[in-house]
Amino acid sequence: MKKIIDFIEEELGAAFEKAGYDRSLAKVTVSNRPDLCEYQCNGAMAGAKAYHKAPFMIADDVIDNLETKKYIGEITAVKPGFINIKLEDQAAASYLNDMRDSEELGIEKVKEPQMIIVDYGGPNVAKPLHVGHLRSAIIGESVKRIARKMGHKVLGDIHLGDWGYQMGLIITELKERKPELPYFDEAFEGEYPKEAPFTISELEEIYPMASARAKEDELYRESALHATYLLQNGHKGYMAVWKHIMEVSVTDLKKNYDNLNVEFDLWKGESDAQSDIPDMIGWLKADGFAHIDQGALVIDVQEESDTKEIPPCMVQKSDGASLYGTTDLATLVQRQRDYEPDKVIYLADKRQELHFLQVFRAAKKTGIVPSGMGLSFLGFGTMNGKDGKPFKTREGGIMRLENLIADIEEEMYKKITDNRTVEEAEAKATAKIVGLAAIKYGDLSNQASKDYVFDVDRFTSFEGNTGPYILYTIVRIKSILNKYAAEGNETDGLKITGAHSDGEKALMLEAAKYNDVMTVAYEELAPHKICAYIYDLANAFNRFYHETKILAGEDDKKKESYIALLVLVKEILEACIDVLGFTAPERM
Ligand code: ARG
Repeated sequence: MKKIIDFIEEELGAAFEKAGYDRSLAKVTVSNRPDLCEYQCNGAMAGAKAYHKAPFMIADDVIDNLETKKYIGEITAVKPGFINIKLEDQAAASYLNDMRDSEELGIEKVKEPQMIIVDYGGPNVAKPLHVGHLRSAIIGESVKRIARKMGHKVLGDIHLGDWGYQMGLIITELKERKPELPYFDEAFEGEYPKEAPFTISELEEIYPMASARAKEDELYRESALHATYLLQNGHKGYMAVWKHIMEVSVTDLKKNYDNLNVEFDLWKGESDAQSDIPDMIGWLKADGFAHIDQGALVIDVQEESDTKEIPPCMVQKSDGASLYGTTDLATLVQRQRDYEPDKVIYLADKRQELHFLQVFRAAKKTGIVPSGMGLSFLGFGTMNGKDGKPFKTREGGIMRLENLIADIEEEMYKKITDNRTVEEAEAKATAKIVGLAAIKYGDLSNQASKDYVFDVDRFTSFEGNTGPYILYTIVRIKSILNKYAAEGNETDGLKITGAHSDGEKALMLEAAKYNDVMTVAYEELAPHKICAYIYDLANAFNRFYHETKILAGEDDKKKESYIALLVLVKEILEACIDVLGFTAPERM
């Protein structure tokens, strides 16, 4: 739904046109004399010169030609030629009723839906999922949901880091530990075992060990590099090990992302891009887009308007190996072939900004993607601990995502059971829901590009700008509605007829902002704007709640209006937390 001000502007536009003036004069702004009216239009003043007429006459003409007056109470021409517009008493109420009656609360879906790919998550297979990848998953999931809400066709792709040196390291270490396995027997002709020769915990222990050893042991490092090379060139046994690594890791990743309420449509990865690399390199060379520079194959991406040097995008090292950029370009070749997206949005640590700039420019310059395709990079800052350094465990190690979630859930469980007696199972389930909200809201309420401090005490608090506070507000509304229903009343189909107080008016005005906030959050890829909005909305509701006898009042008509407003506010809050990627419990 359009905003009230836009509705009025449209009505005025029609009146300007009907009276013989240019429609564009009908610009409506918030009044600078709020004591007189809410909105004003200075178009008659602006048009006076062009039409050789006194502004006051134009203003009069326009008002005479006004056909509809939705939301408009009084509209008057005042000297020398302003148009003052007072809202009708029930304007806000009728706007909110219209919102409730429209599909999805009146979200103004885009006229031309786009095909959008969101590339997020990006975990590196076989390395434990750590907090660094948390932000990508949380922000990406929200961006995907916001874009869908606006009516776009969106696919989320996890883009696994599944083809690098880490695989060589694991193969090398496994070979040392279990040389008897058939994967390492070059003469082996039979079928490789179906069962992986390791569990996820073993895998997670192998990687850091091998990685540390390779840093000290040059010979070991060389074997790992060689194993990587052989794998990438199709070594049969190593490919089989790689498949095991993938199965075991992906199962574990799915479980982790499930717990985070993060869902990918595509589980593709860097390895999938490999099949397109040789061909791509071939024509990049043949068409002269890529040239050799100090032994490496590169694409120049410097542009005249650049104020600083942008190094070329490297597509092949002197030893023939491909790089991060090569994979990203080949992935775009595939995305273009398979989905013809209008836009691809990438989420990664903001320190990867230059990489994406190079890839985007190279992709457009070489025609890998059409010049009109939108390529955007949403770079996020670091999640720090209270000491201002990247978040670590208490012992100073890398925090595993699973443990972080478990810690938060435990904290929430304590809080929930401190407050009241709840059954164990219910308390556990609620702690899980509220814990997730604490983590996600804590992250999303910050502008993505900024570093932020992951503060468990603050994030799990029921007060202040936190996820639990938002959920607490929703639960409070639900409980009022339940009580009202339990008294034998119908909560559906009631009309808002307020405002009966300043607090209620403030709440109504907040509720009316919903559509606009969602649109802006999409345009700016800014979930934090939705957080800021629901925090304001929750505050407005809680003020209203404390000032008003919602159920205890005598006046049934008023009560019905309150209930109708509560239903709407609850629906808005729920729609917002849904695009942020979490839900509310029934009680807490
Ligand atoms: N795996 C990468 C990392 O851990 C993130 C991948 C981002 N996406 C991409 N298409 N490059 O940093």
